[in-house]
Amino acid sequence: MTNKLVIGNWKMNGDILTNAALVQALLKFNANETDIVICPPAIYLSQVQLLIEKSDISLGAQNVSSESKGAFTGENAANMLKDIGCNYCLVGHSERRALFHETSEDIAQKITQLLSHNMTPVFCIGESLAQRENNETKDVIITQIQSVLALVGQQEFASVVIAYEPIWAIGTGKTASAAQAQEIHQVIRDYLNSLDNKAFSGTQILYGGSVNEGNANELIAQPDIDGFLVGGASLKAQSFEKICQC
Ligand code: PGA
Repeated sequence: MTNKLVIGNWKMNGDILTNAALVQALLKFNANETDIVICPPAIYLSQVQLLIEKSDISLGAQNVSSESKGAFTGENAANMLKDIGCNYCLVGHSERRALFHETSEDIAQKITQLLSHNMTPVFCIGESLAQRENNETKDVIITQIQSVLALVGQQEFASVVIAYEPIWAIGTGKTASAAQAQEIHQVIRDYLNSLDNKAFSGTQILYGGSVNEGNANELIAQPDIDGFLVGGASLKAQSFEKICQC
């Protein structure tokens, strides 16, 4: 059985001192059968890498350039992330889609860049509240997957981790119920299996959106939830530890 996967997305939070204190606390974690990844802001990736290098915690980035090198001021290329020790990278987070206008084409290029440097892309998808209320959730989710998968290629897409994050649950304190989350995770799993159940048999589907120590147990008990993408609660060592332990 594959381990559960818990990814902490620090977003644009932290500084040298608080990062060091948080990582010191994480290093004392006891979370068997759980793979833990932390995604600090790009400027602190090297700091965090030095702190976790002898541990089982892996390093992830929050973003990557869709280009490989050159005149792209302010961007970080996939080979640079790999160079400093990243094994994972988030792509298509709803904040990047909404605030930085990332399209499926951008996301597909980023995934291709990451895969060509042997990093695992964590591809985020999710519906808005209006889409949920209009009963469009399943269509939205499948379309988000299809539009990226078509560009990345089915074989390559099998190496991607998927994070289902309903936008209305991100940072709002409102979590999808375990049943709501499981329903969509199953839709995703069934869709991938309908394409190629062998190739996608190992695909991990994470849930994200206000995961905390109070709701993690019930969510992880669902058959198609393979782990979590955690924002706010990943900044609190105790909460993050409890989520990883569940
Ligand atoms: P949240 O964020 O846990 O603070 O809701 C999740 C995410 O944005 O990945």
